[in-house]
Amino acid sequence: MAPATALTDEIAVTSLVLAEAQLPRIPTGSAEVDRVLGGGLVRGEVVLLAGEPGIGKSTLVLQLINGLISGGHETMLVTGEESVGQVSLRGARLGVQGDRFRVAASTSLPAILAVCDREMPTVLVVDSIQTLEDPSLDQSGGSSVQVRECAAALVRYAKATGTIVVLVGHVTKEGSVAGPKTLEHVVDAVVSLEGERGGALRVLRAAKNRFGSCDETGVFIMGDRGLEAVSDPSAMLLADRCPGVAGSVVFPGLEGSRPLLLDIQALAYPTDLPHPRRVALGLEAKRLALLLGVLAQRAQLELHKSDVFVSAAGGLAVREPAADLAICLSLYSAARDAPVDQRVVVIGEVGLGGEVRRVPGIERRLREAARLGFEQAIVPQAVTNGPHGIRLRRAVNLPAALDLAFCETERASVKVPLASGKGGR
Ligand code: TYD
Ligand code: MG
Repeated sequence: MAPATALTDEIAVTSLVLAEAQLPRIPTGSAEVDRVLGGGLVRGEVVLLAGEPGIGKSTLVLQLINGLISGGHETMLVTGEESVGQVSLRGARLGVQGDRFRVAASTSLPAILAVCDREMPTVLVVDSIQTLEDPSLDQSGGSSVQVRECAAALVRYAKATGTIVVLVGHVTKEGSVAGPKTLEHVVDAVVSLEGERGGALRVLRAAKNRFGSCDETGVFIMGDRGLEAVSDPSAMLLADRCPGVAGSVVFPGLEGSRPLLLDIQALAYPTDLPHPRRVALGLEAKRLALLLGVLAQRAQLELHKSDVFVSAAGGLAVREPAADLAICLSLYSAARDAPVDQRVVVIGEVGLGGEVRRVPGIERRLREAARLGFEQAIVPQAVTNGPHGIRLRRAVNLPAALDLAFCETERASVKVPLASGKGGR
């Protein structure tokens, strides 16, 4: 067997500073997207833009192509889903520069590679990878083999020519169908566009990035003119808040490294249904079930005869356990019809024993809360320092946090029947 490189072959040695300098970034024209990518696109990079159908991927790539054209870069869009006419209509609505916008409708991989050899774009966008087909393969288009092989061919093309390739890929709620998951290891970066389809908010995050961190997120609003960056998402998310309403608690979440204040809302009312409803919007249903168990056992809040709804208002999903305490307090507030002070934010993971556990990024969360004028924070016991302007209220466990958030009469209220002799302090 021949060795891959002869032992005597010379290999280049460079310094990290030089290596970084050799990676000039190509800005996309959207500061939010550039941030998620780690400063812009890099020659030869392959980016997978993943998201559910209808979330705004095609819209985003049109806007990015427009930004790249404005920056003097040659681009080409290959569309396998929409006709050139449809792309042109959408482009006109988004105000893209049609005369310099090169677009081709095709699903044939060899045809696309041939046109790229001729046109030599700096950035090639394929919308979507699931529509591509390599006729030499004994598989129908859209199958996982086709998707994988077509992506691999485009990766080879990108690496051989230095062309930047952006692949659009659909994912379904259940995960992926012949899709992005199987491609993650062959591309350099996976960025996903997420959000509730009915809502206008969209978050762009990097799930993998060989040319940057995965901590950055971009926040956008889908409007009449496509996706618009939101410069202060916390302020926007809290703008429609209705202070003084029971069940509403503000949680300083982290999207990657970026703090975002979210309004957690709960509704709970008695029902005669044999199986009361448990609805979690923007939160995991399992997490809600667990926290309801902890509330029943450790704080005597029995909601087994109540319908319960919890939502992260604004359409952003909350996946962090750091939101546990805020969810518990919003449920308690809703069930007791007792509002939590509007100047308070709540942070902490809640364990099965009712203990309030520490969470990452506490400083960043508190700074964001202080910036938006919040004055108090209910936090885990271990938190010692907060930014100027925020009073820390430490809670060792759930009952202690409830004592801090609600006055005695509310705590003693028997609107919800008390469970006997369980948990507590
Ligand atoms: P699209 O980019 O086609 O989604 P995807 O490529 O991810 O399937 O956009 C989906 C939705 O976005 C579409 O239903 C209409 C809406 N939209 C707007 O609200 N504003 C706009 O300016 C555009 C172009 C689309
Ligand atoms: Mg599309």
